[in-house]
Amino acid sequence: MKVGILYSRIRRDEKLLLSELRERDHEIEKIDVRKQQFNISEAPEAFDDLDIVVDRCLATSRSVYATKFAKAYGVPVVNGPDVADTCADKVNNSLALEAAGVPTPDTDVAFTKDAALESIEKFGYPCVLKPVVGSWGRLMAKIDSRSAAEAILEHKETLGHYEHKIFYVQEFVEKPGRDIRVLATDGEPVAAMVRSSDHWLTNAAKGAETDTFELDDRALELVEKASEAVGGGLLGIDLMETGVSQSDGEWSFEDYTVHEVNHTVEFKALNEVTDIDVPAAVVDWLEQRAATGADAEVTA
Ligand SMILES: Nc1ncnc2c1ncn2[C@@H]1O[C@H](COP(=O)(O)OP(=O)(O)O)[C@@H](O)[C@H]1O
Ligand SMILES: [Mg+2]
Repeated sequence: MKVGILYSRIRRDEKLLLSELRERDHEIEKIDVRKQQFNISEAPEAFDDLDIVVDRCLATSRSVYATKFAKAYGVPVVNGPDVADTCADKVNNSLALEAAGVPTPDTDVAFTKDAALESIEKFGYPCVLKPVVGSWGRLMAKIDSRSAAEAILEHKETLGHYEHKIFYVQEFVEKPGRDIRVLATDGEPVAAMVRSSDHWLTNAAKGAETDTFELDDRALELVEKASEAVGGGLLGIDLMETGVSQSDGEWSFEDYTVHEVNHTVEFKALNEVTDIDVPAAVVDWLEQRAATGADAEVTA
């Protein structure tokens, strides 16, 4: 097959993917989105004869638009623009999970500092304030007191870009010092890991320690539902374990909660920590997707 890769930087993740594709003698068209002009009627040459396009853009905004064009040019694209739209924005992400009945942390969205402060007081301390667009744990705030809340909201309102004036306030989940990342293809887990840290942010990009994780039936069910909720595809599903601290200091597990689904998912950490050949599993799935063509995108 001929595979187009939408990218702006080739990281280790893309290198893994490219070498797996090359090993299987697939033709590759690397499409640096910074150099393209996406015309509304005529596809750039790079899109000629592609069987499938894989979106690996780093910047969410580019990813959202480039996938729209790929779809308009009639090339099957993973993940599609609708999935990108939903996953690129934490508000859309939360709404989709909630609508699908997937447990997700309780969240308020407010448009002014005063309204946001009321949400924060309602959730109590600590609670969490997240930018609606972003990843790697950037610009996330755990708010411990009213005075901290006032300061952060004032900073955001005064100094932030317009999207930081959408206040996304979330209950703080007392997780056991770790969260779970699952890489899934159309709801089918490829590999999973836990990310542990003393810090409340447990992103691999923040230096959390990673280890393998065995998914139980409940986790499998939620991964499938969360994938479906955002439209399916190659996804990184993030879950936290919820539970209660006992009087003896022990923590007991109650359920999982899905805090987000990522659409341009990194997989180098998963590939290192598990025995699973992650790029091979991803390419297996791409081959299937390319064979079923654009129809798969519509129904997924
Ligand atoms: N409501 C929450 N309560 C406790 N910890 C959270 C909560 N939301 C996120 N986290 C922690 O912060 C990390 C980053 O949050 P996430 O919503 O995944 O944002 P990002 O898109 O930056 O990865 C998570 O991996 C998790 O460890
Ligand atoms: Mg995350």
